[in-house]
Amino acid sequence: MATVPRDAIAPTVSAAKLTALQQAVADFDHEQLIWSSGYLAGLAGSTAPRTSLNSLQAIAPANIESSRNADQWHVFYASETSNSRNIAERLAANAAAVGLTAAVQDLRDVRPKLLKNIKNAVFVLATHGIGEPPEGSEPFFEFWMSDKAPRLEGLNFSVLALGDSSYADFCEIGRTFDARLKALGATSVVDRTDCDLDFEIPSTIWTNQVVELASASATSIEVLQSTHLSAVPDSPAYTKQHPFSAEILARQIITGRDSSKDVRHIELDLEGSGLVYQPGDSLGVVPTNPPQLVEALLEATNFSGDELVAIDGESTSLSNAFTEDKEITALSRPILDAVAARHPRLTSILADRDQFATFLETRQLIDLVQEYSVDWQPQEFIDALRGLTPRLYSIASSLDANPDEAHLTVSVINYEKFGRQHWGSASSFLIGDATHAPVYVEPNENFRLPTDSNTPIIMVGAGTGVAPYRAFVEHRREHGHRGKNWLVFGDRNLSSDFLYQLEWLRYRKDGSLSNLDVAFSRDQDAKLYVQHRLIENGTQIFAWLEQGAHFYVCGDAKHMAADVNAALLAIVKQHSDLSDDDTREYVNELKRTRRYQRDVY
Ligand SMILES: Cc1cc2nc3c(=O)[nH]c(=O)nc-3n(C[C@H](O)[C@H](O)[C@H](O)COP(=O)(O)OP(=O)(O)OC[C@H]3O[C@@H](n4cnc5c(N)ncnc54)[C@H](O)[C@@H]3O)c2cc1C
Ligand SMILES: Cc1cc2nc3c(=O)[nH]c(=O)nc-3n(C[C@H](O)[C@H](O)[C@H](O)COP(=O)(O)O)c2cc1C
Repeated sequence: MATVPRDAIAPTVSAAKLTALQQAVADFDHEQLIWSSGYLAGLAGSTAPRTSLNSLQAIAPANIESSRNADQWHVFYASETSNSRNIAERLAANAAAVGLTAAVQDLRDVRPKLLKNIKNAVFVLATHGIGEPPEGSEPFFEFWMSDKAPRLEGLNFSVLALGDSSYADFCEIGRTFDARLKALGATSVVDRTDCDLDFEIPSTIWTNQVVELASASATSIEVLQSTHLSAVPDSPAYTKQHPFSAEILARQIITGRDSSKDVRHIELDLEGSGLVYQPGDSLGVVPTNPPQLVEALLEATNFSGDELVAIDGESTSLSNAFTEDKEITALSRPILDAVAARHPRLTSILADRDQFATFLETRQLIDLVQEYSVDWQPQEFIDALRGLTPRLYSIASSLDANPDEAHLTVSVINYEKFGRQHWGSASSFLIGDATHAPVYVEPNENFRLPTDSNTPIIMVGAGTGVAPYRAFVEHRREHGHRGKNWLVFGDRNLSSDFLYQLEWLRYRKDGSLSNLDVAFSRDQDAKLYVQHRLIENGTQIFAWLEQGAHFYVCGDAKHMAADVNAALLAIVKQHSDLSDDDTREYVNELKRTRRYQRDVY
């Protein structure tokens, strides 16, 4: 990884900007660094707003013409884990560097109809859930996808879509919104770019194209007016690209011996890192892949592991590349496409959305290489694998109650399928032999305690979804907050899966938890889930909501989040006598006012 020597920077560049620059180029190889230096020099030289359009292959002349009247550029983002937000802010900073006005806005804070009144907009849009918009931005997309959406002939736009090609609905939100804007008559001035998790290079190219276009089409230079930008916090010292090596202090199994799951309580030491977090934040863990999986993969591919391969221009052994650099568990598009090129049967699976989704959900890389043999060259195989990406874990502790520590609740992925063993990368790493784990804090503004400490909260979680609630209650206890706390927890069996049972019972006894409801799905014949407990307690849930309670949901995105949402709608409808439309509006309003927040994965 490249680092810029601090003394090479003139004093006009603040530490925060230097860190941002270092983050942006952290994964660049030698060639890309040279290209970027030329690009930055070009920006510095462009004192006039009309820079060359030579590199803008994607922009048709008619489109440039139609954007000439524009002065302000609106940069919108929809983000959950801050990748899109960071790119949007970087774009605005680049635009400011060439004298353009650029306002950055989170789509959660935007009235949907605002689009009607603007001429130039760029969108950096992540996809979450199962092909869904990031939390809080749903009302914006619902409006523009609905029949109520007005025509947008006057709008010039471009979309950068962020996603993960290990999901069947890859970049779904960016792709569908781009198509919708075109259908409404808006003009795409820079072609949409779809980014996988290794988005640094494609997002930089897209950003450069947008800034060059904006610069070339501006009629006047204006000073930067966006107050939003000044609110951007300084980058922390330890980040995804520069994680802190935290000592692992404890790894305690918190599921019972008879449990079908293995869940660990992990404690990490943050002392000396300067890392701070708030209840609701996640910790990013940069894993090393499990050695037993590396062995199995080498065997399956008939490599010794000593073969030399190049990663970002640097030579390393294949075994090292599997261990430290590449994703060798979850499948993603590049490797699937490379294998499908030799196996037509796989091509037809990839072409069918549902078959593809099932394939991705049930198989890891080891299954793919066993099922579809390919006579790989080592470098060819490595090039088809995506870079190893960090995993996020909801922080299960309050920093104020546990200074210098972060606790996690980790469900260990270790299962047998197709006659072979499978492991998860980060969960295996956290419970393995390592004494330290590279970590960083991932803030989550979408999952926050109410600012008023007297406000009641309802916390709904299944399995490891209970983690942030441990942080919430610890924090409220530590600060003597008076707001009532209600936990609705679900898992499989009471005897083995009631995570942090003793703590919750103690909190219930000392009044830190005013209400505690549990749903153990496998303790009786009929399945019992958290949504059933909510419905049973509907009168009181609605009464709490009417008192201003905040409603949180954490854990399984696939089933629980949708079932709890349906239960919430049913409760509001039943206890309010509102119409269906007004019930939906009631729940949407909870979302808009940040009183209904979800952290689901
Ligand atoms: C905001 C956020 C918060 C999170 N908080 C938590 C938390 O508090 N606790 C927690 O445990 N996790 C949490 N996660 C999930 C976590 O980030 C990891 O995804 C999870 O731990 C798996 O990572 P891994 O590296 O061990 O597995 P990976 O190496 O990512 O392997 C996972 C892959 O294995 C396959 N797989 C797994 N199980 C099966 C199975 N039974 N059958 C078939 N295939 C399977 C799937 O292909 C899956 O993609 C959170 C995620 C997010 C986004
Ligand atoms: C819980 C979860 C669900 C996701 N679902 C999808 C999906 O359905 N399709 C997709 O392309 N990407 C999906 N992603 C990947 C994100 O879009 C990707 O991580 C992106 O970089 C996040 O951007 P953000 O940090 O701005 O939120 C998902 C990520 C998470 C954590």
